[in-house]
Amino acid sequence: MVKKLIISLICSFIFILPFSCKQKNEETQIGKDIDRKWWKEAIVYQVYPRSFKDSDGDGIGDLKGIISKLDYIKSLGVDVIWLNPIYSSPNDDNGYDVSDYRGIMKEFGTMNDFDSLLKGIHDRGLKLVMDLVVNHSSDEHEWFKKSRSSRTSPYRDYYHWWNAERGKPSPRYSLFDINHDAWKYDSLTNAYYLHYFSRKQPDLNWENPKLRQEVYGIMKFWADKGIDGFRLDAFGFAAKDTTFPEWPKGYEKNFMKYYAMGPHLHDYLKEMNAEVFSKYNVMSVAEGAGNSFEDAHNLVDADRNELNMAYAFEAVDIAKREGYDLLHFKEVFSRWDSAFADKGWLSVFLANHDQARLVSRFGNDDPAYRDLSAKLLATFILSMRGTPYWYYGDELGMTNPGFTKIEDYRDMPTLNEYKHLKETGGNIDLFLQEIKFSSRDNGRTPMQWDTSSHVGFTTGTPWIQTNSNYKMINASAQEKDSNSCLNYFRKMVRLRKENVALVYGKYTLLDKTNPDAYVYTRELDGKKFLILLNFKNKNVTVDPGIDLTKSRIIISNYMTASAPGSLKPYEAVIYEVL
Ligand code: NOJ
Repeated sequence: MVKKLIISLICSFIFILPFSCKQKNEETQIGKDIDRKWWKEAIVYQVYPRSFKDSDGDGIGDLKGIISKLDYIKSLGVDVIWLNPIYSSPNDDNGYDVSDYRGIMKEFGTMNDFDSLLKGIHDRGLKLVMDLVVNHSSDEHEWFKKSRSSRTSPYRDYYHWWNAERGKPSPRYSLFDINHDAWKYDSLTNAYYLHYFSRKQPDLNWENPKLRQEVYGIMKFWADKGIDGFRLDAFGFAAKDTTFPEWPKGYEKNFMKYYAMGPHLHDYLKEMNAEVFSKYNVMSVAEGAGNSFEDAHNLVDADRNELNMAYAFEAVDIAKREGYDLLHFKEVFSRWDSAFADKGWLSVFLANHDQARLVSRFGNDDPAYRDLSAKLLATFILSMRGTPYWYYGDELGMTNPGFTKIEDYRDMPTLNEYKHLKETGGNIDLFLQEIKFSSRDNGRTPMQWDTSSHVGFTTGTPWIQTNSNYKMINASAQEKDSNSCLNYFRKMVRLRKENVALVYGKYTLLDKTNPDAYVYTRELDGKKFLILLNFKNKNVTVDPGIDLTKSRIIISNYMTASAPGSLKPYEAVIYEVL
């Protein structure tokens, strides 16, 4: 396997993929027409730096903390670390408001720490993907300070300004603003500036070629340091019609339709690809995937030279409230898989830093079922086609913390919405109930390393409360338990790594109308796996329509798997069909 991976790496590096990798595929008898790439076979582990490990006792995770846990990450068997933004930032949005793209956030450390981190990552055979936040910058970035200073500043058109004597610009929805108004009036030059996110996150003007060159320069700076990829934050929003036409009344209820794919987005991505991606062996993933399969393909199909893979939200958005319909869930994953079966490549994920915890949303965090359902979700993500993205702590089955008061929360949009409701007389109790399930802070509590003070995350006061269930859920205890979520996750990772059919193999949904169980096969070159997953807290029957007498179980989240035809609560089993 290692040998195959090295061949694949060399192939992609010297840009002769179509010919030489085809040769390799034929040699190894693996999917003759499959275009193998390291980033398709990789498993991405997402680290939210603020919450992973603090090394200096200020209560905020940092780069040295991550360095001290690289062996842990390596031990998971994953290949790539995706780091949320670590650039200089006043932290209005935890680093998604960058004030210097070539600097390191002071709470996180120094550039020397970064260099050591990258070396530590590469020394272990891992790769690093960095967040690139260039739909907007911080309002404390030098560009914005200069842009704001006068209408004739050379930096004025690095951002979107609308002079007030023209009247109010046509409405634009802000995702994070207290009043959801994306135009902020600035008396200094009697003009409004645009911010799709918070007031402290002014949108950069991608129509300006000078700005685009600045961004490519920043990307080259990091690529020259040796990083292995970029995750493009909110990039679908970057291109805009700068005449700012009036949109139909009520557009904000479906603002994604208007924001997701601006007029020259593909041109900018092609330019970025020519200027940066094509010159380095880096992977690229967009946040989002446009509004349709056509958009998604146009972003990632290899012959278009834009991005490598899409990161579509339709599935992760299913569990917005407690309880979700498994038939819908299956339909969404199956539809996306079939649209990408022959062309293009997808990410597979159900959690990240913008979501509540995986097991609390898609599994069951009741102590009776938490462990089983966390293992079931690992089985699912790691047996689907696409590049799996795994969020730190989900390998332990970390849960939502159950915050009850607004003082427990740190997330800016959550706090802004609270203020908005207060000002407008909204239903605060209902809101507190909702955010207990859905706020982004649910997924940002410190990594539960052990039972020492503050879960082994910090010796100081953590920036956000730790989860009180750390005695039951922590890495140290799970290391020692061969049956833990953590060790199950490692087993599942190994299984994927050893079976390329789980990466590239054809996906077929079985027992389609079963409302409780998700059943499918993955097959490639004569190897076939049957995956049986009971998403409910009760015994269920399944009918895969496959004779299993000659099959063997290769993984199961119960000590003894059920006999074919039935599944225990949250049971997950994979058979190799012989
Ligand atoms: C998407 C990121 O994932 C989210 O965390 C951030 O708040 C917004 N983009 C704005 O950058």
